[in-house]
Amino acid sequence: MHAFLFDLDGVLVDTARFHFLAWQRLAHQLGFEFTETQNEALKGISRMDSLEIVLKTGGIQATNEEKLRYAEEKNAYYLRLCSEMTPADVLPGVLNFIRQARERGILIGLGSASKNAGTILDHVGLRPYFDTIVDGNRVRKSKPDPEVFQIGAADLGVLPGSAVVFEDAVAGVEAAKRAGMKVVGIGDPAILKEADRVFPNFEGLSLTQLEELAAETK
Ligand code: G6P
Ligand code: MG
Repeated sequence: MHAFLFDLDGVLVDTARFHFLAWQRLAHQLGFEFTETQNEALKGISRMDSLEIVLKTGGIQATNEEKLRYAEEKNAYYLRLCSEMTPADVLPGVLNFIRQARERGILIGLGSASKNAGTILDHVGLRPYFDTIVDGNRVRKSKPDPEVFQIGAADLGVLPGSAVVFEDAVAGVEAAKRAGMKVVGIGDPAILKEADRVFPNFEGLSLTQLEELAAETK
């Protein structure tokens, strides 16, 4: 294991919940219901691609101008929800895990589709732990395309086979697999079926538990 690439929303911080609440609010404004189950398909997906899925769910036709306005409104509400975040909002066990990894000389990268990733890392004080940050401003192709993780590994100068990705989204797990990387799912094993291992969160997760995974060759 030479590098760890972390997704942000739903892995390091609970902003996946804020994304959901912001999309749900938009759906309500447009007059339809949007559930947590439907939201699962949006995880890891870029803002505009997510909007298309949300509008399709509600059977809404919109002009390009309206779409831009909807995306802006969603983002403004999302950022309002995020503005109160502090270092206390880093998910349990994350900081310990990243510190352990850094002590072992493992390089740390971020691989997120979010254009707000830098802002969130600053709110919660995580930026100094990252050797590289690949966010929605740097990638052209959204997960499940592997681009975000390929750029991350290249930044860190490691081969895909030496990188482990941490993901909470089905699209993110697929992206990591397509990049030829090992994937640790954070969340529900029934949803993250393609991940090599799944843990509910980072609490109690130690590097030792991942050594076996690193040794596996596929
Ligand atoms: C992450 C989240 C998605 C979000 C995307 C874009 O991948 O999982 O839910 O839509 O980032 O985020 P942004 O902050 O740029 O709207
Ligand atoms: Mg995520």
